[in-house]
Amino acid sequence: MLYLDYAATTPPYEDVITAVAEVMSTYYGNPSSIHGLGVQAERLLQQAKESMAQLLKVSAEELICTSCGTESNNLAIKGAAYQYRHRGNHLITTQIEHPSVLGVFRQLEAEGFRVTYLPVDSAGTISMDSLVEALCEETIVVSTMFVNNETGAVQPIAEIGRYLKAYPRIIYHVDAVQGMTKLPISLGEWGIDLCSISAHKFRGPKGAGLLFCRKRDPAPALVSWRRPRTRLAIGYGKSSSHRRYG
Ligand SMILES: Cc1ncc(COP(=O)(O)O)c(C=O)c1O
Repeated sequence: MLYLDYAATTPPYEDVITAVAEVMSTYYGNPSSIHGLGVQAERLLQQAKESMAQLLKVSAEELICTSCGTESNNLAIKGAAYQYRHRGNHLITTQIEHPSVLGVFRQLEAEGFRVTYLPVDSAGTISMDSLVEALCEETIVVSTMFVNNETGAVQPIAEIGRYLKAYPRIIYHVDAVQGMTKLPISLGEWGIDLCSISAHKFRGPKGAGLLFCRKRDPAPALVSWRRPRTRLAIGYGKSSSHRRYG
């Protein structure tokens, strides 16, 4: 069979299959456990995060492992909306988001948030003008995708992110599930606060996603328990009272 729908998913590289099989058969410890197998697993996890952090030019502490892009989108948007609700009640997204984003906004709307869904032009792109018009004192989150999964339209995320730098109270989330590894992206320079990534879209395994969560903000409420990693002392003679979970 000739498989061509690489927007839906991609076949994993042989190296990926080998690495996943090796980790599952040899390093299957719970990375939160304090015994040797667990510590080995945590080291591998940390190594993987550091490689991704290097590629993305961010810190490994700013990366949260998830199971997929859908989960990253849910954590990012709900986390930011709930965390900053005290600042305002208004959220902005676009009419062309993936269902894993649109579904979250519909849910937040049902919970009382006001949501603006920006339209797109005939090329499938949102305009800066419509975004600027939608911004108000109450806006706490802007969420736009990088590349549309159906049309391939590339959204002006660099322009949006740079513009929003003047509004540090607004959290900017990008669903970069499409586009990541295909087009350049600069999380730092473009002022992106939260970014969703999914490995199976670029020859990685299913069941592996990332959420970039900029350090300058407190982690979104839903995942804040993951940090800081006080377990780092494990392996240096600390008692089992340092065990946090797992
Ligand atoms: C733009 C976009 N966002 C999110 C997702 C969801 O990613 P996942 O399949 O990893 O849950 C997809 C998947 O098709 C997508 O295309």
